[in-house]
Amino acid sequence: MRKKLVAGNWKMNLLDEEVINYIVNFNSRKNEIESDAEIIILPASIYLDTMISMPDWDIKIGAQNCSQFNNGAYTGEISAAMLRDFDYDSENLHYCLVGHSERRAYFKESNEVLAQKVNRLIENQLKPIFCCGEELEHRKKEKHFDLVKSQISEGLFHLKEEEIKQVVIAYEPVWAIGTGETATSNQAQEMHAFIRTILAEQFNQDVADSISILYGGSCNSTNAKELFEQPDIDGGLIGGASLEVESFIQIINAF
Ligand code: 13P
Repeated sequence: MRKKLVAGNWKMNLLDEEVINYIVNFNSRKNEIESDAEIIILPASIYLDTMISMPDWDIKIGAQNCSQFNNGAYTGEISAAMLRDFDYDSENLHYCLVGHSERRAYFKESNEVLAQKVNRLIENQLKPIFCCGEELEHRKKEKHFDLVKSQISEGLFHLKEEEIKQVVIAYEPVWAIGTGETATSNQAQEMHAFIRTILAEQFNQDVADSISILYGGSCNSTNAKELFEQPDIDGGLIGGASLEVESFIQIINAF
């Protein structure tokens, strides 16, 4: 059985007091959660400590980015070893995003760099949530499958079988992120099934069947249920709608 996951990517939002209020509010409403999906929140790195230090906080936490380098003169960067070291005891910090389209677009992160980040995370026992997804122009030219295949093959196909099994994949069509225009459940299912097929071709069917593939892009409390009902959609990577406890819990309960 594949793991079901609902991850909230807060991006560069919420200040310390808002983070604390969110957690207190979320904790007070935990009894409303009816789903057995694993819940993950990905705050800005500077607030990982706030989250880890909150009492009664047993939700998994992830970072939004890490360096492709081990250590050294890379001003402003945070290494995977630092993330691992940070939460060595409490074991809440399990995940890190890699290759979000905003990082690919604004910070010019190439597939080659992203493959290095994946390596650093796996070396440090953290699970990469590897993002992929096409822009609208690729889809219009019917190049979306080729594009996603190249992102996944260049970012992940160098891994060994036991390593790829540590990875979660998130399909986030760029045209759906923050636009209110979600992919239809058919479009999303079609791409998730395609991703599973290329994983089976490169590795084997067992690997393909064991990797959770999340959908992201304007996923909200109205459309989550239909998306999560698709056979190859194992959860969601939620941006805007994860910033409110109410809508995030509704999405979690869509499973
Ligand atoms: P939205 O849910 O705001 O469209 O963002 C999706 C996303 O980028 C999650 O990583």
